[in-house]
Amino acid sequence: MNSQLGKIKQEFFKSLEEIKDVLQLEKLENEFFSRKSGKMNEVMKVLKDLVGEARKEFGILANELKIEMEKKLAEKKQELNQEKLGSLIQEEEIDVTEPKLPIHEGGHLHPETKVLWEMEDVARSMGFIVEDGPELDSDYYCFEALNIPKTHPARDSQDTFYIKDHPEWCMRPHVSNMQVRLLQKYGVPLRAAYPGRVFRNEATDASHEHTFYQFEALVVGKDINIGHLVGIIKELLRGLYNTDVEVRLRPGYFPFVEPGFEMDMKCLICHGVGCGACKHSGWVETLGCGLMHPKVIEGAGFDSKVWTGLAFGMGLTRLAMQKYKIDNIRLLQSGDLNFLKQF
Ligand code: PHE
Repeated sequence: MNSQLGKIKQEFFKSLEEIKDVLQLEKLENEFFSRKSGKMNEVMKVLKDLVGEARKEFGILANELKIEMEKKLAEKKQELNQEKLGSLIQEEEIDVTEPKLPIHEGGHLHPETKVLWEMEDVARSMGFIVEDGPELDSDYYCFEALNIPKTHPARDSQDTFYIKDHPEWCMRPHVSNMQVRLLQKYGVPLRAAYPGRVFRNEATDASHEHTFYQFEALVVGKDINIGHLVGIIKELLRGLYNTDVEVRLRPGYFPFVEPGFEMDMKCLICHGVGCGACKHSGWVETLGCGLMHPKVIEGAGFDSKVWTGLAFGMGLTRLAMQKYKIDNIRLLQSGDLNFLKQF
């Protein structure tokens, strides 16, 4: 073998024997193979001064040596890694008397979320599309388009949070902001449900929250009447509670429906006898509803003499309380794990 190559080989194998860890190995690799100053690369420079057979012979030998050295490096690396792993396992002490850690308890859906998803399923099965809407919306979609002009007293009961320096924007006080949006987007006829988070400028107390969830739906078609309204609501509630629900209508005022109603359902917890959940009346105020006001339909761009509609909206909290027989509204948002774990 060429004496230069022989010298390198000897040097390399001697150093390799002395290697004790991966760091040293890397250093060695660098010493021989670094692109800039690696010893092997230096030797290769000799090639360019050689010609003919000598050049060919040197080339072959150098290449064979390179392959051999690389193989040894890889072997050594594996050997070192194995040793390290072995010593780690030896170091690890396993205390078999140690008590086991509690198995991680996965979270689960909040009762209101379960109710929401079930309502969405029932609505879809009845041919409604289900759509999300913006929580921050314009005064127009939240009020004006719903027949609630700026000076209307109904604004007081739906007071909400406004955006500083942007009086035209507010956090929607109800999901009814979707009524005109959906009509503009999908046209008529339409069957749509639009649940979501809503906001009110309220002092929080036992039965009032500044942030809560509503589920609303509308149907626009020809000759829609109150029979459709009551039938659809009862069917939805039956889907949610898996039982027929007794309801009653009372006159109610919402500027975007005419006529408007409040609907109560017979308390499913006490079956009308009276309990905490129904404020001992036997009935639970469940939702606001009515036939869509012609102004809303016109405002969305449709002829209210041809197109009529119904709409109803409800809070999810009471629905969930009835579903899961919870008679204290405060429990739902309390974050009390002992309570929540039951669901
Ligand atoms: N938007 C009303 C509320 O928040 C509920 C409602 C919806 C009433 C649809 C009538 C029709 O109280």
